[in-house]
Amino acid sequence: MVKAWFYKEYGSVDVLQFGEIPTPSAGPGQVLVKVRAAALNPVDFKIRQYGVLRSADAPFPVVPGCDLAGVVVEVGDGVSKFKKGDEVYGDIQDFTAGNPKQVGTLAEFTVAEEHLLALKPTNLSFEEAASLPLALLTALQSFDTVGFQKGQSVFIVGGAGGVGSLAIQLAKHVFEASRIVSTCSTGKVEFVKNLGADLVVDYTKQSYEQVDEKFDFVFDTIGESFNSHVVVKEEGKIVDIASFPPHQKAVNVLVKPQGSNLERLGKYIESGKLKPVIDPKSPYAFSDVVEAFKHQESERARGKIVISHIE
Ligand SMILES: NC(=O)c1ccc[n+]([C@@H]2O[C@H](COP(=O)([O-])OP(=O)(O)OC[C@H]3O[C@@H](n4cnc5c(N)ncnc54)[C@H](OP(=O)(O)O)[C@@H]3O)[C@@H](O)[C@H]2O)c1
Repeated sequence: MVKAWFYKEYGSVDVLQFGEIPTPSAGPGQVLVKVRAAALNPVDFKIRQYGVLRSADAPFPVVPGCDLAGVVVEVGDGVSKFKKGDEVYGDIQDFTAGNPKQVGTLAEFTVAEEHLLALKPTNLSFEEAASLPLALLTALQSFDTVGFQKGQSVFIVGGAGGVGSLAIQLAKHVFEASRIVSTCSTGKVEFVKNLGADLVVDYTKQSYEQVDEKFDFVFDTIGESFNSHVVVKEEGKIVDIASFPPHQKAVNVLVKPQGSNLERLGKYIESGKLKPVIDPKSPYAFSDVVEAFKHQESERARGKIVISHIE
Protein backbone atom coordinates (compact mmCIF):
# COMPACT_ATOMS: atom_id res chain seq x y z
CA MET A 1 0.00 0.00 0.00
CA VAL A 2 1.13 3.61 -0.60
CA LYS A 3 0.16 6.84 1.11
CA ALA A 4 -2.03 9.16 -0.95
CA TRP A 5 -4.60 11.91 -0.92
CA PHE A 6 -7.88 10.85 -2.50
CA TYR A 7 -11.63 11.47 -2.64
CA LYS A 8 -14.57 9.12 -2.99
CA GLU A 9 -17.13 11.70 -4.12
CA TYR A 10 -17.04 15.12 -5.80
CA GLY A 11 -17.18 18.21 -3.61
CA SER A 12 -15.28 20.86 -1.66
CA VAL A 13 -11.89 20.34 0.01
CA ASP A 14 -13.83 18.50 2.72
CA VAL A 15 -14.00 15.38 0.52
CA LEU A 16 -10.20 15.06 0.51
CA GLN A 17 -8.92 12.17 2.61
CA PHE A 18 -5.42 11.04 3.47
CA GLY A 19 -4.85 7.30 3.61
CA GLU A 20 -3.52 4.34 1.69
CA ILE A 21 -4.23 2.93 -1.75
CA PRO A 22 -2.91 -0.24 -3.39
CA THR A 23 0.55 0.21 -4.87
CA PRO A 24 0.13 0.93 -8.59
CA SER A 25 2.24 -1.10 -10.99
CA ALA A 26 3.66 -0.13 -14.37
CA GLY A 27 1.93 -1.64 -17.40
CA PRO A 28 3.38 -1.84 -20.91
CA GLY A 29 4.94 1.45 -21.93
CA GLN A 30 4.62 2.83 -18.40
CA VAL A 31 6.96 3.58 -15.53
CA LEU A 32 6.33 3.58 -11.80
CA VAL A 33 7.57 6.83 -10.28
CA LYS A 34 8.34 7.63 -6.67
CA VAL A 35 6.85 11.10 -6.49
CA ARG A 36 9.26 13.59 -4.90
CA ALA A 37 7.17 16.71 -5.62
CA ALA A 38 3.87 17.58 -7.24
CA ALA A 39 2.15 20.78 -8.35
CA LEU A 40 -1.50 21.77 -8.27
CA ASN A 41 -3.42 23.23 -11.19
CA PRO A 42 -6.95 24.66 -11.27
CA VAL A 43 -8.11 21.55 -13.15
CA ASP A 44 -7.36 19.48 -10.04
CA PHE A 45 -10.04 21.25 -8.03
CA LYS A 46 -12.42 21.51 -10.99
CA ILE A 47 -12.31 17.72 -11.35
CA ARG A 48 -12.71 17.26 -7.59
CA GLN A 49 -15.61 19.72 -7.40
CA TYR A 50 -17.58 18.76 -10.48
CA GLY A 51 -15.99 15.71 -12.08
CA VAL A 52 -15.11 17.74 -15.18
CA LEU A 53 -13.30 15.73 -17.87
CA ARG A 54 -14.46 12.45 -16.23
CA SER A 55 -17.27 10.31 -17.58
CA ALA A 56 -20.27 9.71 -15.31
CA ASP A 57 -19.20 6.12 -14.62
CA ALA A 58 -15.51 6.84 -13.94
CA PRO A 59 -14.49 5.04 -10.73
CA PHE A 60 -13.56 6.32 -7.25
CA PRO A 61 -11.43 6.85 -5.24
CA VAL A 62 -9.62 9.50 -7.23
CA VAL A 63 -6.08 10.59 -6.38
CA PRO A 64 -5.77 14.14 -7.74
CA GLY A 65 -2.76 15.71 -9.42
CA CYS A 66 -1.28 16.04 -12.91
CA ASP A 67 2.25 17.37 -12.39
CA LEU A 68 5.10 15.48 -10.80
CA ALA A 69 8.83 15.24 -10.46
CA GLY A 70 10.28 12.04 -9.09
CA VAL A 71 12.40 8.96 -9.54
CA VAL A 72 11.67 5.95 -11.75
CA VAL A 73 11.52 2.81 -9.56
CA GLU A 74 10.07 0.27 -12.02
CA VAL A 75 9.73 0.08 -15.80
CA GLY A 76 7.01 -1.76 -17.68
CA ASP A 77 7.39 -3.91 -20.79
CA GLY A 78 8.60 -2.06 -23.84
CA VAL A 79 9.90 0.99 -22.00
CA SER A 80 13.04 2.23 -23.72
CA LYS A 81 13.34 5.87 -22.72
CA PHE A 82 13.91 5.49 -18.97
CA LYS A 83 15.55 3.12 -16.53
CA LYS A 84 15.33 2.65 -12.77
CA GLY A 85 16.84 5.57 -10.89
CA ASP A 86 16.18 8.20 -13.59
CA GLU A 87 14.91 11.54 -12.27
CA VAL A 88 11.93 12.56 -14.37
CA TYR A 89 9.17 15.14 -14.54
CA GLY A 90 5.96 15.62 -16.48
CA ASP A 91 2.20 16.04 -16.61
CA ILE A 92 0.84 12.50 -16.35
CA GLN A 93 -2.78 13.34 -17.22
CA ASP A 94 -3.59 13.46 -20.92
CA PHE A 95 -7.16 14.77 -20.94
CA THR A 96 -7.29 14.56 -24.71
CA ALA A 97 -7.03 10.76 -24.45
CA GLY A 98 -10.18 10.20 -22.37
CA ASN A 99 -10.78 9.89 -18.63
CA PRO A 100 -7.93 11.16 -16.45
CA LYS A 101 -6.01 8.45 -14.59
CA GLN A 102 -7.60 7.39 -11.34
CA VAL A 103 -4.26 7.69 -9.54
CA GLY A 104 -2.72 11.11 -10.05
CA THR A 105 0.39 12.62 -8.49
CA LEU A 106 -0.65 13.23 -4.87
CA ALA A 107 0.56 9.76 -3.92
CA GLU A 108 3.91 8.32 -2.83
CA PHE A 109 4.07 6.36 -6.08
CA THR A 110 2.21 6.75 -9.35
CA VAL A 111 2.33 5.40 -12.88
CA ALA A 112 2.86 7.31 -16.14
CA GLU A 113 3.33 6.48 -19.81
CA GLU A 114 6.96 7.05 -20.72
CA HIS A 115 6.06 9.44 -23.56
CA LEU A 116 4.54 11.88 -21.03
CA LEU A 117 7.81 12.28 -19.12
CA ALA A 118 11.21 13.84 -19.66
CA LEU A 119 14.43 13.72 -17.67
CA LYS A 120 14.37 16.34 -14.92
CA PRO A 121 16.62 19.29 -15.76
CA THR A 122 19.66 18.90 -13.51
CA ASN A 123 19.61 22.54 -12.42
CA LEU A 124 16.10 22.25 -10.92
CA SER A 125 14.96 20.87 -7.58
CA PHE A 126 12.13 18.36 -7.65
CA GLU A 127 9.74 21.11 -6.51
CA GLU A 128 10.87 23.47 -9.26
CA ALA A 129 10.59 20.76 -11.91
CA ALA A 130 7.12 19.71 -10.76
CA SER A 131 5.92 23.30 -11.11
CA LEU A 132 6.45 23.37 -14.86
CA PRO A 133 4.80 20.70 -17.02
CA LEU A 134 1.06 21.37 -17.31
CA ALA A 135 1.27 25.17 -17.23
CA LEU A 136 4.33 25.42 -19.46
CA LEU A 137 3.01 22.93 -22.01
CA THR A 138 -0.32 24.77 -22.14
CA ALA A 139 1.47 28.00 -22.95
CA LEU A 140 3.77 26.34 -25.49
CA GLN A 141 0.90 24.60 -27.24
CA SER A 142 -1.06 27.86 -27.38
CA PHE A 143 1.82 29.72 -29.04
CA ASP A 144 2.28 26.78 -31.43
CA THR A 145 -1.45 26.69 -32.22
CA VAL A 146 -1.40 30.23 -33.57
CA GLY A 147 1.96 29.74 -35.30
CA PHE A 148 3.50 32.57 -33.29
CA GLN A 149 6.50 34.04 -35.12
CA LYS A 150 9.62 35.77 -33.81
CA GLY A 151 9.04 39.53 -33.77
CA GLN A 152 5.27 39.37 -33.26
CA SER A 153 3.55 41.02 -30.32
CA VAL A 154 1.53 39.30 -27.61
CA PHE A 155 -0.98 40.38 -24.98
CA ILE A 156 -1.14 37.89 -22.09
CA VAL A 157 -4.23 38.07 -19.91
CA GLY A 158 -3.36 36.94 -16.37
CA GLY A 159 0.43 37.29 -16.23
CA ALA A 160 0.72 36.46 -12.53
CA GLY A 161 -0.87 33.01 -12.66
CA GLY A 162 0.70 29.62 -13.15
CA VAL A 163 0.24 29.65 -16.93
CA GLY A 164 0.68 33.40 -17.44
CA SER A 165 3.95 33.67 -15.50
CA LEU A 166 5.49 30.98 -17.72
CA ALA A 167 3.86 32.31 -20.90
CA ILE A 168 5.58 35.68 -20.46
CA GLN A 169 8.98 33.99 -20.20
CA LEU A 170 8.18 31.74 -23.15
CA ALA A 171 7.17 34.73 -25.25
CA LYS A 172 10.36 36.57 -24.39
CA HIS A 173 13.03 33.88 -24.48
CA VAL A 174 11.70 31.13 -26.75
CA PHE A 175 9.43 32.91 -29.24
CA GLU A 176 11.32 36.23 -29.11
CA ALA A 177 8.22 38.39 -29.12
CA SER A 178 8.77 42.01 -30.09
CA ARG A 179 6.43 43.24 -27.37
CA ILE A 180 4.81 41.59 -24.36
CA VAL A 181 1.98 43.25 -22.48
CA SER A 182 0.23 41.49 -19.64
CA THR A 183 -2.48 42.04 -17.05
CA CYS A 184 -2.70 41.58 -13.28
CA SER A 185 -3.93 43.40 -10.18
CA THR A 186 -2.10 46.30 -8.51
CA GLY A 187 0.00 44.34 -6.01
CA LYS A 188 1.51 42.08 -8.69
CA VAL A 189 2.53 44.69 -11.30
CA GLU A 190 6.26 44.67 -10.37
CA PHE A 191 6.25 40.87 -10.21
CA VAL A 192 4.82 40.58 -13.72
CA LYS A 193 7.19 43.23 -15.06
CA ASN A 194 10.13 41.29 -13.64
CA LEU A 195 9.00 38.18 -15.49
CA GLY A 196 9.67 40.02 -18.75
CA ALA A 197 6.56 42.02 -19.64
CA ASP A 198 7.35 45.30 -21.41
CA LEU A 199 4.17 46.83 -20.05
CA VAL A 200 1.78 45.68 -17.35
CA VAL A 201 -1.87 46.66 -17.42
CA ASP A 202 -3.40 46.85 -13.93
CA TYR A 203 -6.85 45.51 -14.67
CA THR A 204 -8.28 47.12 -11.55
CA LYS A 205 -7.51 50.54 -13.08
CA GLN A 206 -7.66 50.08 -16.85
CA SER A 207 -10.12 48.27 -19.11
CA TYR A 208 -9.26 46.53 -22.38
CA GLU A 209 -10.90 49.43 -24.26
CA GLN A 210 -8.35 51.76 -22.68
CA VAL A 211 -5.38 49.79 -24.06
CA ASP A 212 -4.29 51.83 -27.09
CA GLU A 213 -2.36 49.10 -28.94
CA LYS A 214 -3.35 46.03 -30.92
CA PHE A 215 -1.51 42.71 -30.81
CA ASP A 216 -0.72 39.81 -33.14
CA PHE A 217 -1.70 37.33 -30.46
CA VAL A 218 -3.91 37.52 -27.39
CA PHE A 219 -3.25 34.66 -25.01
CA ASP A 220 -6.11 34.74 -22.52
CA THR A 221 -5.42 32.55 -19.47
CA ILE A 222 -8.36 33.92 -17.51
CA GLY A 223 -11.25 33.18 -19.86
CA GLU A 224 -12.14 36.77 -20.70
CA SER A 225 -11.97 36.59 -24.49
CA PHE A 226 -15.42 38.18 -24.70
CA ASN A 227 -13.67 41.33 -23.44
CA SER A 228 -9.99 40.80 -24.26
CA HIS A 229 -10.65 40.26 -27.99
CA VAL A 230 -10.73 44.04 -28.47
CA VAL A 231 -6.92 44.23 -28.17
CA VAL A 232 -6.19 41.81 -31.03
CA LYS A 233 -5.25 43.07 -34.50
CA GLU A 234 -7.75 42.52 -37.31
CA GLU A 235 -5.65 39.62 -38.66
CA GLY A 236 -4.44 38.55 -35.18
CA LYS A 237 -5.18 35.34 -33.26
CA ILE A 238 -6.69 34.64 -29.83
CA VAL A 239 -6.32 31.57 -27.66
CA ASP A 240 -8.59 31.40 -24.62
CA ILE A 241 -7.79 28.45 -22.34
CA ALA A 242 -10.44 29.06 -19.73
CA SER A 243 -13.85 29.83 -21.22
CA PHE A 244 -15.97 27.31 -23.04
CA PRO A 245 -17.03 28.38 -25.57
CA PRO A 246 -14.74 31.37 -26.00
CA HIS A 247 -15.40 34.50 -28.08
CA GLN A 248 -15.97 33.65 -31.76
CA LYS A 249 -12.57 35.05 -32.75
CA ALA A 250 -10.82 32.86 -30.18
CA VAL A 251 -9.90 29.19 -30.11
CA ASN A 252 -9.65 26.92 -27.10
CA VAL A 253 -6.59 24.85 -26.43
CA LEU A 254 -6.73 21.78 -24.20
CA VAL A 255 -3.25 20.84 -23.10
CA LYS A 256 -1.88 17.60 -24.51
CA PRO A 257 1.14 16.72 -22.42
CA GLN A 258 4.24 15.36 -24.13
CA GLY A 259 7.68 14.65 -22.73
CA SER A 260 9.12 15.61 -26.11
CA ASN A 261 7.83 19.16 -25.71
CA LEU A 262 9.48 19.41 -22.29
CA GLU A 263 12.69 18.19 -23.95
CA ARG A 264 12.25 20.85 -26.64
CA LEU A 265 12.36 23.50 -23.90
CA GLY A 266 15.21 21.80 -22.01
CA LYS A 267 17.96 24.13 -23.22
CA TYR A 268 15.99 27.20 -22.14
CA ILE A 269 15.31 25.69 -18.71
CA GLU A 270 18.87 24.47 -18.19
CA SER A 271 20.33 27.83 -19.24
CA GLY A 272 18.08 29.58 -16.72
CA LYS A 273 16.14 31.53 -19.36
CA LEU A 274 12.88 29.78 -18.45
CA LYS A 275 12.60 29.85 -14.68
CA PRO A 276 10.08 28.09 -12.47
CA VAL A 277 7.83 30.57 -10.67
CA ILE A 278 6.89 29.20 -7.28
CA ASP A 279 4.14 30.86 -5.26
CA PRO A 280 5.57 32.34 -2.01
CA LYS A 281 3.44 30.03 0.18
CA SER A 282 4.97 26.95 -1.47
CA PRO A 283 6.28 24.35 -1.14
CA TYR A 284 3.50 22.88 0.98
CA ALA A 285 4.24 19.77 3.01
CA PHE A 286 2.48 16.61 1.82
CA SER A 287 0.42 16.78 5.01
CA ASP A 288 -0.82 20.28 4.01
CA VAL A 289 -2.48 19.38 0.72
CA VAL A 290 -5.85 20.74 1.92
CA GLU A 291 -4.26 24.15 2.58
CA ALA A 292 -2.59 24.02 -0.83
CA PHE A 293 -5.95 23.33 -2.50
CA LYS A 294 -7.59 26.20 -0.62
CA HIS A 295 -4.91 28.55 -1.87
CA GLN A 296 -5.28 27.25 -5.45
CA GLU A 297 -9.03 27.74 -5.23
CA SER A 298 -8.60 31.36 -4.12
CA GLU A 299 -7.43 31.98 -7.74
CA ARG A 300 -4.84 34.42 -6.36
CA ALA A 301 -1.74 32.23 -6.64
CA ARG A 302 1.41 34.02 -7.78
CA GLY A 303 2.99 31.44 -10.07
CA LYS A 304 2.73 27.76 -9.18
CA ILE A 305 1.65 25.94 -6.03
CA VAL A 306 3.90 22.97 -5.29
CA ILE A 307 3.89 20.16 -2.76
CA SER A 308 6.88 18.37 -1.33
CA HIS A 309 6.46 14.66 -0.89
CA ILE A 310 7.22 12.22 1.86
CA GLU A 311 10.94 11.54 1.96
N1 LIG B 1 -7.25 24.57 -21.43
C1 LIG B 1 -6.19 24.08 -20.78
O1 LIG B 1 -5.57 23.09 -21.21
C2 LIG B 1 -5.76 24.74 -19.51
C3 LIG B 1 -4.49 24.47 -18.99
C4 LIG B 1 -4.08 25.15 -17.86
C5 LIG B 1 -4.95 26.03 -17.23
N2 LIG B 1 -6.18 26.22 -17.74
C6 LIG B 1 -7.12 27.16 -17.10
O2 LIG B 1 -6.53 28.46 -17.20
C7 LIG B 1 -6.88 29.22 -16.05
C8 LIG B 1 -5.60 29.77 -15.45
O3 LIG B 1 -4.79 28.71 -14.97
P1 LIG B 1 -3.57 29.04 -14.00
O4 LIG B 1 -2.94 27.76 -13.63
O5 LIG B 1 -2.74 30.11 -14.59
O6 LIG B 1 -4.39 29.63 -12.75
P2 LIG B 1 -3.89 30.32 -11.44
O7 LIG B 1 -2.41 30.10 -11.26
O8 LIG B 1 -4.78 29.91 -10.34
O9 LIG B 1 -4.14 31.87 -11.72
C9 LIG B 1 -4.10 32.73 -10.62
C10 LIG B 1 -3.81 34.12 -11.12
O10 LIG B 1 -4.90 34.59 -11.89
C11 LIG B 1 -4.85 36.00 -11.84
N3 LIG B 1 -6.14 36.58 -12.17
C12 LIG B 1 -7.34 36.27 -11.64
N4 LIG B 1 -8.31 37.02 -12.22
C13 LIG B 1 -7.68 37.81 -13.14
C14 LIG B 1 -8.12 38.78 -14.08
N5 LIG B 1 -9.41 39.11 -14.20
N6 LIG B 1 -7.20 39.35 -14.89
C15 LIG B 1 -5.89 39.05 -14.79
N7 LIG B 1 -5.41 38.14 -13.91
C16 LIG B 1 -6.30 37.54 -13.10
C17 LIG B 1 -4.48 36.29 -10.41
O11 LIG B 1 -3.77 37.49 -10.40
P3 LIG B 1 -4.39 38.75 -9.62
O12 LIG B 1 -4.43 38.33 -8.16
O13 LIG B 1 -3.47 39.85 -9.94
O14 LIG B 1 -5.78 38.94 -10.16
C18 LIG B 1 -3.59 35.10 -10.00
O15 LIG B 1 -2.23 35.48 -9.91
C19 LIG B 1 -7.69 28.30 -15.15
O16 LIG B 1 -9.05 28.52 -15.38
C20 LIG B 1 -7.29 26.91 -15.62
O17 LIG B 1 -8.27 25.93 -15.37
C21 LIG B 1 -6.62 25.61 -18.86
